[in-house]
Amino acid sequence: MSASEIILEKLDAGRFIVEQVAAIRKAVGDAIAISALSGGVDSAVVTLLAHRAMGDRLKTYFIENGLMREGEASQIVRIFEALGVPVAVVDASDKFFAALKGVTEPEEKREKGITQVFYKDVFAGLVRASGATVLLQGTNYTDVEETAAGVKRQHNVFEQIGIDPKAAFGYQVLEPIVQLRKPAVRAVARALGLPREIAERPPFPGPALAARVIGEVTRERVAIVRRATLIVEEELGHRGAFQVLAVLHEDPVTGVRGGRRAFGQQVEVRCWDSADAVTATPTNIPFHLLCRVAERITSEIPEVVSVTYNITSKPPSCIEAV
Ligand code: XMP
Repeated sequence: MSASEIILEKLDAGRFIVEQVAAIRKAVGDAIAISALSGGVDSAVVTLLAHRAMGDRLKTYFIENGLMREGEASQIVRIFEALGVPVAVVDASDKFFAALKGVTEPEEKREKGITQVFYKDVFAGLVRASGATVLLQGTNYTDVEETAAGVKRQHNVFEQIGIDPKAAFGYQVLEPIVQLRKPAVRAVARALGLPREIAERPPFPGPALAARVIGEVTRERVAIVRRATLIVEEELGHRGAFQVLAVLHEDPVTGVRGGRRAFGQQVEVRCWDSADAVTATPTNIPFHLLCRVAERITSEIPEVVSVTYNITSKPPSCIEAV
């Protein structure tokens, strides 16, 4: 690992902001940079740091990959425009679904279906079109640590595993928060004046809902997991859990509807307590709430006939399924 961790107790958020703004100015110089904003706290902090450093010379893009949650793009654009940061939405969903076609193996899904499309195709195109030389992104300490340790190939980690982005994709990548874990990133977000809905936003993975579809990721299967996600977030998202999510399983299971056999889909609900995603335990949710989630999912999503709750800790589970 190249960068050392700044632990929360040692973090002076105000000083960190001043130092990173200066570091971005120095690294980018008079050039143009682009920020890849997903709306999560990590990329939001990086976008605001870069906006402070560069003003109009920062081009901020939200990539609509077809894998985001309901209404996510418009919500993020609205929040950032209120902060004075213009965000352009780029619809690249056809490219992602084309790359994900037929892919079922988890690491291949991340690498071929997500990472390559983001970096080789979408960002490289935006960099070329805008004349930028630098891409800013919100890689954090845990992303690097888990990828370097071989736990999971996070979609945004390169140099630490021997990939030179300049050679591989044609542009430099700057990672201003790579020394921070999530709680420290949130402290910087608060110090930057980001609204609570961003500063305290539960994590959401870079591969988005593709990390929650076991088996092939198609528009139809993402639509199912998107609806289930909305339900679990509505029902369980206000209880202070670290993350709540729904996973769509690959094999249909046997169910019964209207007195007749109905093969249908199975959704797994996961709700996690965790400080920093390195370890996690399942949240102790009252049984009647779990039953309500199951009732809503199976009645509002007719394709689904079975709902389960994951009671495993991380390790050996991971937070996301893919
Ligand atoms: P796992 O599934 O590895 O997730 O236990 C740990 C935390 O990281 C998030 N996650 C990702 N975040 N790119 C990201 O930016 C990724 O590829 C990625 N994969 C997982 C996950 O939601 C959890 O908070």
